[in-house]
Amino acid sequence: MRARIPFLAMAAGLTASYGTLIGYMGRFLYPARRRPASWVYVAQLRGWRSGESRRFKAPSGETVNVTRSTVNGDAADFSARSSVCPHLGCQVHWEPHNNRYFCPCHNGVFAPDGTAVSGPPADAGQSLSSYPLRVDSGLLYIEVPTEKLQLAAAPRGRGGSLLARVDQPAGAGHDPCLAAAFGEEDSVESS
Ligand code: FES
Repeated sequence: MRARIPFLAMAAGLTASYGTLIGYMGRFLYPARRRPASWVYVAQLRGWRSGESRRFKAPSGETVNVTRSTVNGDAADFSARSSVCPHLGCQVHWEPHNNRYFCPCHNGVFAPDGTAVSGPPADAGQSLSSYPLRVDSGLLYIEVPTEKLQLAAAPRGRGGSLLARVDQPAGAGHDPCLAAAFGEEDSVESS
């Protein structure tokens, strides 16, 4: 019986190693399929100052803070992060004087790249989701997962739908259950 123990241990080790190898091969042969996404028009670059952040809402209700940090005229000028705090869902806003996103509900702080650096989201390792951006002929577009986007009427020849601009409440933040107390959409930007 004793002689069988090393044999069984070796067999278990080999099985684990081959299992890992097969797993890696499977990932190489069948890479994860990219989720379908759509480019959605956000706004014109003209008139958008460095340090200015605007909040937009997709037809699906998804809210995104789009922030401009430089004025080179390309997509690298901008970043797009979810405005929903991953802790308990309050609205996060951009603070240009502190170069950070801030959630006033429990003092959650996020770096410009969306990484949580302080407060409950940092303790839990929760960051803001990011969205790819693209600039075409002076117009800014954002890529949103199609499954989250019930596409509205697409502007002819540009693809995607319009995002609605949303007012950001000033001063102290708000609890998600009080969200209805703040005026939301004000206008729809068009190209
Ligand atoms: S909901 Fe944002 S820190 Fe708690």
